Amino acid sequence: MRANIVKLVYLVTACMVAGVLYLMSFGAAHSTTPPLKSAKVNLSDKASLQRGAAAFRDYCFNCHGLSAVRYNQLTKIGLSEDNIKQYMLTTTTKPGDMMTVGMNAADAKKWFGVAPPDLSLMASAKGTDYIFSYLNDFYRDETRPTGWNNRYWPNAAMPHVLWEEQGTMVPIMEDKPDPADHTKMVPTIVGFNKATAGKRDEAGYEQLTNDITNFLFWASEPDRQSRHFLGYIVLAFLLLLAFLASKLSKNYWKDIH
Ligand code: HEC
Repeated sequence: MRANIVKLVYLVTACMVAGVLYLMSFGAAHSTTPPLKSAKVNLSDKASLQRGAAAFRDYCFNCHGLSAVRYNQLTKIGLSEDNIKQYMLTTTTKPGDMMTVGMNAADAKKWFGVAPPDLSLMASAKGTDYIFSYLNDFYRDETRPTGWNNRYWPNAAMPHVLWEEQGTMVPIMEDKPDPADHTKMVPTIVGFNKATAGKRDEAGYEQLTNDITNFLFWASEPDRQSRHFLGYIVLAFLLLLAFLASKLSKNYWKDIH
């Protein structure tokens, strides 16, 4: 009996050690992902949000929806109702509809193997720096079915939809110590060369991807700004109430002393 318990304790301990080692190796294997680039999000920059919305419509909306946004909420980033009708709505969508994707999810799955995720959820799930870094990291990889790869989402099923804007990036490889086993050297991407030019230079492409990121940040919670505004009003009201209460209390005790 006692021997069995000892065996059980050994077994459980061994499993825990194996689990920790597994998790550690997991972390190490992922450390080839470069650090995230920082996106400059600014919800007061309406021009950036509008450029982001237009780019989203042109480059992302075929595949990705925004389940947190209704078309008519786009007035909050400064689009007029006419703008929305003219540029955002299709013949089958109405201003009160959610901006869900037009493409049939089953078709998407058939074409890409994975359904393109809803992008309203992306800024909250993975963060704006992630989106910005991801959009700035597509490179040529002939071994992939799409012809593209990405270090932040290795073997992504998404093609580089912005390649005409950015141009074609090809990786510069160098032998570096394998993060999982420092005694081995593995070919590692250390940077990119631009093989063919795009419509935009480097700064222009960064602005485009930053605008899209900013728009997706807004789209993750279209009411964030009005909620913050309401918060300030409530705080101001509480301060006023505290001030009045203290005056009242002074007045009240004045006669009693
Ligand atoms: C042709 C269809 C298509 C278009 C257009 C497209 N995507 Fe994607 N996207 C996909 C697919 C498919 C995936 C799923 C990739 C995977 O999981 O391997 C994806 C995944 C993503 C992800 C998530 C990656 C992750 O970490 O899970 C982000 C972010 C994203 N897309 C952003 C965009 C943005 C921004 C645009 C517009 C500039 C865009 N996509 C245009 C098909 C598309």
